[in-house]
Amino acid sequence: MDSCEKNVVDPEDVGSNPSTEPSIGDMIARRLGRRGALRGLFGAGAAATLSHELLGSTALAQEAGPSSLTFREVIRGLDKTHHIPEGYEARVLIRWGDPVVAGAPAFDPANLTAAAQEKQFGYNCDFIGLHAMPAGSTTGDRYLMVVNHEYTNTNLMFAGLGDGRASRAKATRQQVEVEMAAHGGSVIEIARDGGSWKVVPDSKYARRITATTSMDVSGPAAGHDKLRTSAEPTGTKVLGMLNNCAGGETPWGTWLTAEENFNGYFGGDAERMPDAKAYKRYGISKATWYAWAQHIDRFNVEKEPNEPNRFGWIVEIDPYDPSSTPIKRTALGRFKHEGCHHALAKDGRVVIYMGDDERFEYVYKFVTAKPWNRQDRTANKNLLDEGTLYVARFADDGKIEWMPLVHGHGPLTAENDFASQADVLINARLAADLLKPTPMDRPEDVETNPVNGRVYVMLTNNTRRTEQQVNRANPMARNAHGHVIEITPKGGDHASTEGTWSIFIAGGKPGVDPGARYHRATSENGWLSCVDNCAFDSKGRIWIATDGAPTAAGVADGLYGADTAGYGRGLTRCFFQAPTGAEVCGPMLTPDDGTVFLAIQHPGEDAGSTFEKPSTRWPDFKDGMPPRPSVIAITKKGGGVIGS
Ligand code: FEO
Ligand code: CA
Ligand code: CA
Repeated sequence: MDSCEKNVVDPEDVGSNPSTEPSIGDMIARRLGRRGALRGLFGAGAAATLSHELLGSTALAQEAGPSSLTFREVIRGLDKTHHIPEGYEARVLIRWGDPVVAGAPAFDPANLTAAAQEKQFGYNCDFIGLHAMPAGSTTGDRYLMVVNHEYTNTNLMFAGLGDGRASRAKATRQQVEVEMAAHGGSVIEIARDGGSWKVVPDSKYARRITATTSMDVSGPAAGHDKLRTSAEPTGTKVLGMLNNCAGGETPWGTWLTAEENFNGYFGGDAERMPDAKAYKRYGISKATWYAWAQHIDRFNVEKEPNEPNRFGWIVEIDPYDPSSTPIKRTALGRFKHEGCHHALAKDGRVVIYMGDDERFEYVYKFVTAKPWNRQDRTANKNLLDEGTLYVARFADDGKIEWMPLVHGHGPLTAENDFASQADVLINARLAADLLKPTPMDRPEDVETNPVNGRVYVMLTNNTRRTEQQVNRANPMARNAHGHVIEITPKGGDHASTEGTWSIFIAGGKPGVDPGARYHRATSENGWLSCVDNCAFDSKGRIWIATDGAPTAAGVADGLYGADTAGYGRGLTRCFFQAPTGAEVCGPMLTPDDGTVFLAIQHPGEDAGSTFEKPSTRWPDFKDGMPPRPSVIAITKKGGGVIGS
C-alpha cells in the first residue's frame, strides 16, 4: 500500500507488535558493531557466487559497467509521467475503468456507478500473474492475466472530497458501493498482436472479483465460531476480498491473491469489544480509513464482531474456470499478507513464502502436507488446506530457523488461548509472537530466484526501529529506505526448517544514508529506496519495484534490475521511473523475457492532489480525465530481451 504517504497515520503503523525488545543476540551484535557485522554477511554472499562471475561478465556495455544488464539507465527525476530507457517502448494495456467483462459500459468518470465498475477494470492494480493460454501452452503469445485491485483513492475518483486519505471517510453510500466494486481483482485474456499486447475483447474467461463476490472458506479455520456472523452463521462463506496487494500462483495454474491491510475498512469501538486484544494486534480500531462502516453494518465491529476475522487470508482463484468460487485458504494463516510465491521442495511438496507487511512483523512460509500432482490437476484442488505454517527467526550468526505454528506444539496450547489449529491460524500474529520470531523491517514480497534457488525478502523500511532494536537482519535504526535479504535454504530444499541468510542490498543513497549498501559501481540513478515487489527473469536477474521513494528519498518510485551473480551482483540500475504519486507494482516478465508488465498504482496520490486538480492526469492527460491506475507493457523496440 501507499506506505509512505505521510500526511495521515500510516495504515501499516496501526497494528502493534509488542514483542520488539532486542534479544541477547542483538546486544552482542551491537557490541561487535553493525559495520563489521554487515561486512561479514555481504562477504559470504559474494564469495558464494564467484564461480558464475567470469562467464557472466564477457559482454559488457560501457554504461552498464560490470552489470549484465546493458540498457541505458533512466536519468531519474520526479514528474507527471513515466520514463523508460532509450530503445524501449511502453504501452498501456488496461486502465481503471476499461472494459473487462462483456457488455461493460464505456468509462465515464463523471458518472461512476457500482454496476458499471463491476464490469470494468478495478482501481489500484497491484499483483500481476500470467497463466498460459491454453493451459500448458508454451507459445508465449496468449495468457490469462490476473491482476489485484488493492484499494481506492476515493478523492481522485470522485469530485468534491478534497485531498489525502482522510477524504475517503467522506464517501456516500453510493460512492462506497463503487469503491467496493473497484476492489478485488480482474482476470483478462491478453494476446500478442504483432509486437504489442492487447486485451482480447469479450473473452469468456474475463472476470471481475470484488468486495462483494461470494467466496468459500476452507482449511482448519473454516466453520470456526470466530468466523460466524449473523448474516452467515456457518463461517464457511464470505462476501469479497479486501486490500489484495501482492500474490502468486500455484504450480497447477491457480492465482493466489493476498489480503493485506484489511483492518482499515472496519470501524466501531474495537477497544470496548471482547476481542479487543486481537483487534489491536491487527490494527482494527475506531480510526477507520473508509466510510464503509458508516454505511454497511458488517464493517462495524460493534454490529458484526467476527467480520474482520474473515479477511486477511490468502485467496485461491482458478482463472481457467470463470464460474469457480474463490476460496480463502485458512491453513496459510491470517495476517497482512503480502505475496505468496511458491517453490518446490525436493520431495515435490509446495512451499509458499509470505510476508506480513507491517513494521516489526514476520516472514512466514507454508509447506503443503502432500506433493503436487503433476499428472492430475484436479488432485491439487485442496492441496493448500493441509500443511504446516512456519515463522522465521533470523539468527545473528547468519542462520535462519523456521518454527512451526502448530497447535499443541510449544506454547500454542489452550492455556495460552489457542484451543485448536483454527485459533492459531485466525490469530497467527499472536501465535507467532509466542515463538519469538525476528520482527522485521516490513516484509513485503518474498520470492524465489528460479536460477539460484535462493529466496529474496523485500523489507520496505521501518523508521520506528530504535538503536536498541537493531539486529543483524535489520541492522539500521530508523531504517528509512529498506533492504533485501537473501536466504539460502539448507541443502537447497525449500521444505527445510534451516538455512542461512545474508543482506543482498540495503537502500538509501550511497555515501549519504547510513547503512546504504550496493555494488560500488552503482550510479547516481541506480540506488533505490523502499523496495516492495520483485520478479526474476529467466537468467535469474532480479527486478525490484519500489513504493515510497518520493517521500523517503526525494526520487520517483521505479523498477530496478540487478544481477544476482557475477561481477554485477547487487548493482541495481534504474529501468523505469513512475509518474508522480505512483508506486510500481506487479513486475512480471514473460517467459521469453521479451516483455515486462508493470502495474502503476495510485498515480497522482500526492499531498494536495484532488479529483479537480490532480498532480497528474497520467496516462491519458486529457482535461477532466482523472489519473488512472494502469497495467503497462514495456518491450524493446524491434523485440529482444528486456534489460539486455
Ligand atoms: Fe500493499 Fe505491502 O504493499
Ligand atoms: Ca508497499
Ligand atoms: Ca506491495
